[in-house]
Amino acid sequence: MKVENRISYRWQYLLDVDDLLPEDMELVFQTTDAMKEISQREVKKAPTLQGKVVALLFWEPSTRTKLSFDIAAKRLSANTVSFTTGESSVSKGESFLHTIHNLEMMGVDIVVIRHPCSGAPHLAAQSSHMNIINAGDGCHAHPTQALLDLYTIRERKGKIGGLKVVIVGDILHSRVAHSDARGLSLLGANVVLCGPPTLLPREWRFLPRISLEFNLDTALREADVVVMLRLQQERHQGQFLPSLAEYIFLYQLNKERLKLAKPEVMVMHPGPLNEGVEISHDVAFGLSSAVSEQVVNGVATRMALLYLMSGRK
Ligand code: CP
Repeated sequence: MKVENRISYRWQYLLDVDDLLPEDMELVFQTTDAMKEISQREVKKAPTLQGKVVALLFWEPSTRTKLSFDIAAKRLSANTVSFTTGESSVSKGESFLHTIHNLEMMGVDIVVIRHPCSGAPHLAAQSSHMNIINAGDGCHAHPTQALLDLYTIRERKGKIGGLKVVIVGDILHSRVAHSDARGLSLLGANVVLCGPPTLLPREWRFLPRISLEFNLDTALREADVVVMLRLQQERHQGQFLPSLAEYIFLYQLNKERLKLAKPEVMVMHPGPLNEGVEISHDVAFGLSSAVSEQVVNGVATRMALLYLMSGRK
């Protein structure tokens, strides 16, 4: 993307976090603060997006992202339409781009896309005048999850720059890890990506403030934030681990391991969470856990993004 195009580009599409400048992220965070206030009212509704139509196109399963976008749009008085895997005419042979074109002809304003193919939202953005939001594309990016994660860290820790954030697990297949790492690095955090050698892409060490570590105990030392990830077994083509038992032994975040981090460490997980695999129950729901805060902030962050992208004042 050319730098001179960014001003007009950055609120038309959200394809990954590096579409945004640090000051844009700050605007998202401040707008999220305002949206949290609306979400705490007795009548959780504002007329901001009246008359707008938001389409939720999910070619992959989702609980948090789809429902929080739906709730967010409705809280701002937009109308929502949606389909999930198998419900659209794509299952009858219609192309992805023709589907997007049909939505534009129907008067949809904002399209939220989750797709198993990396790059699908980018393809939609190239062929449409609607606002396009990437709600997770293949192993590539999940920018709205990253923005809600960054907001949650900033809310609890009061800052992001200078923190040590350890992201643990299936880095290779995790679009959340990729967007979180980019966003954290842009805002000045020191990111350690940790996982088994087969699930840790070496090229990430060339990005600013990002390092790699195979040993979880080493990675956890002095950590301010730990982000745990699910093994994305639905994307594994081949054998990445000798056994699940060995993965649990080496990479599960449990109470004993958590003691290696700073006492005020914050534990995060984007979900879906596989208790007993990457994280123990007591850590997932203990005092250090921000997992529920992430879900709460997911609605407000998506309200903020819909508002900013709609161009409404
Ligand atoms: N974190 C996340 O994307 O969850 P869902 O798959 O439930 O949307």
